[in-house]
Amino acid sequence: MNRMLSYLFPFDSEKEFQITWIGWAFTFFFIASLFGLLMRAFHLVEVPWLAYKNILHTHSHIALLGWGFLMLNAGIVFSLIRKKEINKGYGWLFIGGVIAVIGMLFSFPFQGYGLISISFSTLQILVSYGFAAKLLKAIQLLEKTPGVRLIRWAILSMVISSLGLWALGPISSSLGRMHELYFMSIQWFLHFQLNGWFVFGVLGLVVLFFENRGLTIKWSVWQEIILVISLVFTYALVITWANPSPTAFAINGLAVILQLLAYLLIITPLFGFVSKSGISKLAKTLLFFALISLFIKGLLQAILVLPAVAVMSYTIRMYVIGFLHLVLLGIMTLGLGGVAIAREWIDESRVLKSGWLFILIAFVSSESLLFLQGTLIWARLGFLSDYHLWLFLASCLFPIGILFILRAVIIQKIKSVTHSNSKISIQNNSKIKTMKKSLILSIGILGIFMTSCGGGGTSESSATTETVTANETPAASPSGIGEIKSVDLGTGIDAKLAEAGLAIVDMKCTACHQLNDKRLVGPGFQGVTNRRRPEWIMNMITNVDVMLDQDPTAQKLLEECLTRMPNQNITQADARGVLEYLRQNDETKAGVRDAAVK
Ligand code: HEC
Repeated sequence: MNRMLSYLFPFDSEKEFQITWIGWAFTFFFIASLFGLLMRAFHLVEVPWLAYKNILHTHSHIALLGWGFLMLNAGIVFSLIRKKEINKGYGWLFIGGVIAVIGMLFSFPFQGYGLISISFSTLQILVSYGFAAKLLKAIQLLEKTPGVRLIRWAILSMVISSLGLWALGPISSSLGRMHELYFMSIQWFLHFQLNGWFVFGVLGLVVLFFENRGLTIKWSVWQEIILVISLVFTYALVITWANPSPTAFAINGLAVILQLLAYLLIITPLFGFVSKSGISKLAKTLLFFALISLFIKGLLQAILVLPAVAVMSYTIRMYVIGFLHLVLLGIMTLGLGGVAIAREWIDESRVLKSGWLFILIAFVSSESLLFLQGTLIWARLGFLSDYHLWLFLASCLFPIGILFILRAVIIQKIKSVTHSNSKISIQNNSKIKTMKKSLILSIGILGIFMTSCGGGGTSESSATTETVTANETPAASPSGIGEIKSVDLGTGIDAKLAEAGLAIVDMKCTACHQLNDKRLVGPGFQGVTNRRRPEWIMNMITNVDVMLDQDPTAQKLLEECLTRMPNQNITQADARGVLEYLRQNDETKAGVRDAAVK
């Protein structure tokens, strides 16, 4: 047991510790990619025994806190800290980080946000404070080059981002999870994580790499101020989602333009360094892709200056997912991969190259699909044929590519152990054997876990979903949730009322709904009065946010459509007109209306 522990978390040799740390990070990347794939499979086959939301939470937590957090910290620690101190100080923090993520991995799929998963995420926050305190202290002693300053801002952003998480508890117990402030706290966390911690961190590591080779970029105090101010004020975009005020739009508009400028001033010299430097082709390619992704990210945010685009950017879910992945896969993953190879933390081999090639193809093709489909919806052109299938196939390349990289890392790890123990070959042999055993063991554990959430865990996970539904949401009511408890339909169709409804539908609904039975962004309207009660339809129109969060039928639709229907402030009287028009539409198109109440 002791031997296995010292294998999983070795402290004796620096090289060994380094490759173990990176190995764990890639393992979490692999697991996150499997959960991502599972979510995309939801669109192809029915997976009724799994709660989509829980899988989403697992995927995002493992990706952000397992892969991103551990790998960026590895990058910072191994770039900045002198060898002797690494083994002493950072080992326990690393282990704490791994334990927190494993805890989340085994709780989120089953309970979503619950006692166990929240405890482990709290542990994760404490570990992140440990890292921040130690690193900031170490940075005090270093010369404040641009690279070091960027990394310091990254670490500060990480600490600032966590304030959003501490706010969640008090807000949800006093105001509830539906409140705007709850939503804004989550966005606070995400904003400072993505745009601060990851973007500044990766930029800092790339800049630092070249500084260590004698190439320093010019980065004045002014540039530093602009970059940080733009980070703080782009949070205004989130405020516009809750309260679309012209001031907030203006602040965000100014901030995104400053941000693009600040990015360009750093990216441009870096492009020159990368292309002229003697680093390997693979490292160059990855760094180029990372820098281009950063530029595109800045550009996309700058387009949001236009309020119309800003609204579509968060109502169309493909854009949201595409944006998150642009930062986390494009900038963070490719950037850190490039740094790790350029610094020779990971040895280059054919296997490693193929792995990264798969990841690059997966990244470019899935991002293109997401943004293309998002734009088609925006232009009201509907769906690409087999869109979900293509997206799934593109995403399959992620876990395959990561497996290749893991293989390269494990081979390197075995070598590093062999190297540090090469004095006595008998011991050496037995150590390799134990390692192989523990490797098989850990893959086995992973396998058991995977199947338990695949087949064996069926009863358990559906049981949890049921209790959650029973506790948190009122039992599924065919009338939905909202103020409308009953609707008097009268005998026939009120043509005048239907005409008033048509005007509203034309203006506010046809961007996403067709009048036939084909799905556009939302389901086609044809037959809607036959599948839903009139109260449910009117509640959906007037109280859509609550319906999407609490009504099981609406939630199911959301899982299928992946876009939140926006609240458009429709009055009850207007909604009654829309209902009348939908009844008329069903009478002419489907030949039957109101079957849901008959
Ligand atoms: C931005 C796109 C969008 C707009 C605009 C929109 N909806 Fe929706 N609607 C959706 C989506 C998507 C769903 C499925 C639930 C979800 O994912 O939010 C939906 C679901 C519905 C449903 C339930 C359909 C069913 O089959 O049960 C009704 C009814 C509905 N919308 C009515 C309206 C009306 C009326 C308007 C205009 C006032 C409107 N929607 C505007 C996207 C939209």
